[in-house]
Order: sequence, then C-alpha cells, then structure tokens
Amino acid sequence: MSSPKAGDCFEKSSLAVEAHGKFIARASSSTDTLEHAFTEHLRLSGIYWGVCALATIGRLDADLGAEKREEILSYVESCRCESGAYSGGVGHDGHILYTLSAVQIYALFDEMDRLNPDAIVAYVKSMQREDGSFQGDEWGEVDTRFTYCALSALRLLNRLHEVDVEGACAYINACKNFDGGFGATPGGESHAGQVFTCVGALAIGGRLDYVDGDLLGWWLAERQVKMGGLNGRPEKLPDVCYSWWVLSSLSVLGKTHWIDRDALCRFILRCQDVTSGGISDRPDDEPDVYHTFFGIAGLSLMGHPAAVEPIDPLFALPNSVLARLGIKPWIESKE
Ligand code: FPP
Ligand code: ZN
Repeated sequence: MSSPKAGDCFEKSSLAVEAHGKFIARASSSTDTLEHAFTEHLRLSGIYWGVCALATIGRLDADLGAEKREEILSYVESCRCESGAYSGGVGHDGHILYTLSAVQIYALFDEMDRLNPDAIVAYVKSMQREDGSFQGDEWGEVDTRFTYCALSALRLLNRLHEVDVEGACAYINACKNFDGGFGATPGGESHAGQVFTCVGALAIGGRLDYVDGDLLGWWLAERQVKMGGLNGRPEKLPDVCYSWWVLSSLSVLGKTHWIDRDALCRFILRCQDVTSGGISDRPDDEPDVYHTFFGIAGLSLMGHPAAVEPIDPLFALPNSVLARLGIKPWIESKE
C-alpha cells in the first residue's frame, strides 16, 4: 500500500494506473473465483464499473482488446430479456439497475447503434407508477435509485420525454428529509448513496430547485471524517465508494470545496494496492472492482491528472462519452 504525503497526492504518478488497469482486466477474465460466483447476479454493473474505470484512466484500449470487448458485449446481449430489460447475469430477472448498466456499457464502447432503444424505453415506461415513482422490476420494489436509473437511461437514449419527468421529480421531493438529504422512499433515512441518485435524477429532470443546496451541502460536507475519507451516514466508517456518492452530489451543487479535498485524495490513495492493483473500501482491506471504480471516479471529480477522461457527476460516464451522445457534461452546462 502506498502512503502519499501531503502535497504529492495530486501528482499524476500518485495513482498506479497501469496496475489498476491490469487488476480490472484480470478480474474480468477470472471466472473460477468464489467472488465471481457470488457476484453473478450483478455482473452487468460490475462490467460497467470496470470498463468505466478503464475509460476514465485512459486504459480502455491498452487493457481491453477488440476480442475481449466483443466477448463483453455478447455477454451483455445474453442478459437481454423479452421485456426489453437487462438482467444482472444470464438467467436472472430483468431489472432497471442492470438496464442502465447495459446502456452505459454500450455508450462506453461507442456501440449505441446495437441497442434496441424502443424496447428499453417501453420497459422503463412500464416501471413508472401513478405517484411518479419507479419500481425496479416486475416484483414491485420502489426506491429512488430506480428513478435515477430510469431518467439516466432515457436521457442517454435521448428519450427522456417518454416518461412523466415532473411526477418522477415530485416523488423524489417527497423523499426529502429535514436534514436536506434524501432516502429510498418517503420517510427513509438520508443516505449519501440515495442522495446521489436523488440529486442526479432532479438535475437530469431539470428540478434542482427541489434541493436546499446549503442544507444538503452541510450534510454532505459533514460526511468527511478525521482520516480524510467520507462516510455515507453519521457515525459510519469512511469508505472509498462514498468519495463518489458524496462528492458527485457536492459537485452538482458546486460545493466540492466544502470538504478537504487533499485529505480525501490521500485517503483514496492509501486504499490502493500499487503492486497488484485495485482500490479497497478502507486502507489495508482487499481491493475490488467496485471500490477501484469509485475511488478513481472520486479522484477524477477532484481533478486528479491521472483521470485523463474526466467523469461527469450526473451520468457517471466520461465527459467524452456524453459528448458523443450530444449531452452537455454538467461542468460545461454550468459555464
Ligand atoms: C450505497 O450502496 C449506494 C447507493 C444506495 C446508491 C446506488 C446507486 C445506483 C445503483 C444507481 C446507479 C449508479 C451509478 C454510479 C451510475 P451500499 O449498498 O454500498 O450502501 P451501504 O454502504 O449502506 O452498505
Ligand atoms: Zn463501499
């Protein structure tokens, strides 16, 4: 593990991009591990985290050859369900979470033409309920994460107008709490992961006026603990993935300077394994692709120079990918 000192954390070489690229490529090829078996049901999200991390550090071509890309796309294709949804892994039920992951993967590989947008739009529309909320699948669980997935996927397909955006945003507003944060459903505890989805959905839906920027900004800034990392709720341990959930929300609100970015950068870099690659949730834990992606994405939001393809805080895709889709990255839309 590396222990960067104050001042050197924003050096390009402080992030071991080659080791991380190899770590992700290795993870995508090892099918015989226990971890592989345990994560079968969410494989599509895993592919999105890995591919997006590689794209952000400019290692997509170096670490994923044309053959591997085709293999990945054909796997994604085999997760397509009759309903138009995608499942997390072959043989599992379709879900709006993995439907967004599929769209993101095709966008990252610049292969949007190979999707069937009408089928995806029909599925996403069928998941919206009377009160504007979205259920995640045919079994009916409702969660503000699913609203984000719906609005993000439709915007990436340039079909946002096909659902009731006002109703979706009003439902999110009903999930707002006294502390300025948001929960999964009305009355649900504020949680930084849900805050990302709610702020993101409101921004995509053009209703950020529902957010009390100062109140929520305070709550988000309070997530930084002594060791520099961020947690998801009061009294919880810091975790690298919250570098994304918290910082992306602060970024949309224009308030990333409300936290100590040097301290957060040092915390993330302390969680990387510079030899075998990968980033873990906390220093000295085992790295995984999820935390590798969110660590890199967090560093990107702080302008780390190794993130050569800076990532957008709303769509969690590199700005260059959004530009290809004709979507203005959030940072540019504010200029
Ligand atoms: C914390 O999860 C994170 C959330 C609740 C937000 C998840 C957001 C999505 C699935 C939307 C798609 C995301 C992107 C980046 C495009 P956790 O289960 O780790 O929470 P815990 O720390 O409380 O266990
Ligand atoms: Zn985590």
